[in-house]
Amino acid sequence: MSATLFRNARIFTPEDTGGPLAGPRQGRVVSHDPGALLCRDGLIEAVGPEREVLAAARDAGRAGSHAKEAVREVDCGGRCMIPGFVDPHTHLCFLEPRETEFLRRLDGVPYLDILAAGGGILATVASVRTASEADLAEATRRRALACLRLGTTTIEIKSGYGLSTEAELKQLRAAAAAGRTTPLTVVTTLLGAHAVPPEFAGNTEGYVDLLAAETVPAAARAGLARYCDAFCERGAFTPAQCRRVLEAARRAGLGVKVHADEVHDTGGAALAASLGAVSAEHLLASGEAGLAALAAAGSVAVLLPATAYALRTPYAPARRMVELGLPVAIATDCNPGSSYTESMPFVFGLAVLGMGLSVLEALAASTLNAAYAIGEGAGAGSLSPGKRADLLLLEGDTPGILAFHAGVSAVAAVYAKGVRAWPAEGSHP
Ligand code: NIG
Ligand code: FE
Repeated sequence: MSATLFRNARIFTPEDTGGPLAGPRQGRVVSHDPGALLCRDGLIEAVGPEREVLAAARDAGRAGSHAKEAVREVDCGGRCMIPGFVDPHTHLCFLEPRETEFLRRLDGVPYLDILAAGGGILATVASVRTASEADLAEATRRRALACLRLGTTTIEIKSGYGLSTEAELKQLRAAAAAGRTTPLTVVTTLLGAHAVPPEFAGNTEGYVDLLAAETVPAAARAGLARYCDAFCERGAFTPAQCRRVLEAARRAGLGVKVHADEVHDTGGAALAASLGAVSAEHLLASGEAGLAALAAAGSVAVLLPATAYALRTPYAPARRMVELGLPVAIATDCNPGSSYTESMPFVFGLAVLGMGLSVLEALAASTLNAAYAIGEGAGAGSLSPGKRADLLLLEGDTPGILAFHAGVSAVAAVYAKGVRAWPAEGSHP
């Protein structure tokens, strides 16, 4: 048994009432100052005002079973404590970012034109297909550790750069390995419907057949993915093609997500709603009807402001989504092309200063709602008894420091399952 008592903290945590926070409740956060948190064996046991948690810790010690247990104390020095970030949308499993493509986009070449000419996603596919699983796993592990240092303790990782059954499964295995080789909790998503591979050029339907009949069932059978996602976009897959893949996923027991309306409104949000998707992601170009349908379906809107920033397009209408009662989450979309960043603090800043979320709305978006968007609500996303003791100490007094201290990370220390993951034990936070 190992117990740790974090005391002298300014605690801010979304309130978990069993689901994501939406509408006027999007910014519903509980705070305790001074607050304390007691964790045992990696799970939160008590959290609240310091006096109450200290009394609970003492009672637990007297109660017998923990009588001889040494409780380690961490004095948080009055720092702000929040839950570890949950990054619910990444494409972390790749070797190299596409820097020359970035320069071409700065010269005005559109993202989808580069894909149509065989570059973009397809350039990454070429390198991932020839990479060994060990090299992919190592690149993913390193990138996951970069995310961890920036405060992410739970992360979703999508495949989508293999585009054959064998290469998609290789990517999913390499992604899942990061959950064993780093302190992060990893959730994997099959994104076989990311682009049409060269051997199926001009035959998108044939590729969709392969995904529905072979790739999706194989990933589900191997237990390698919790979700299946599809890129619903011009030049990628139509709503009808996405539906075929995602219905096969549901039959195989996978949850469903949609890359919806990133560049054009092709009906991705409405598709996600009609499938009861756990989330619809991007939503840069969605119309009002699609957003209302998502709100009615209970999906989470996963917004990716770093992608809008990097593609130099307007941000998703986050305020309108909150008005519509659609729960909003935020994610990095970390990938080698449209959003090359591991930083949830950066995304937090864009959510507040670019999309107009309040600091407390952005806190729920980057923790609790993000956790529900990847089926991790029971284990992460808030500082609540029974959840993993994944928490961050910030350099400032409130979560607002994340947006205010721009261009750096205001995350001073990261604890995953109750253990300090960064900076390494022995160095000063
Ligand atoms: O979410 N749009 C599709 N997929 C990613 C980009 C992947 C890439 O450019 O490599 C996205 O933006
Ligand atoms: Fe994406």
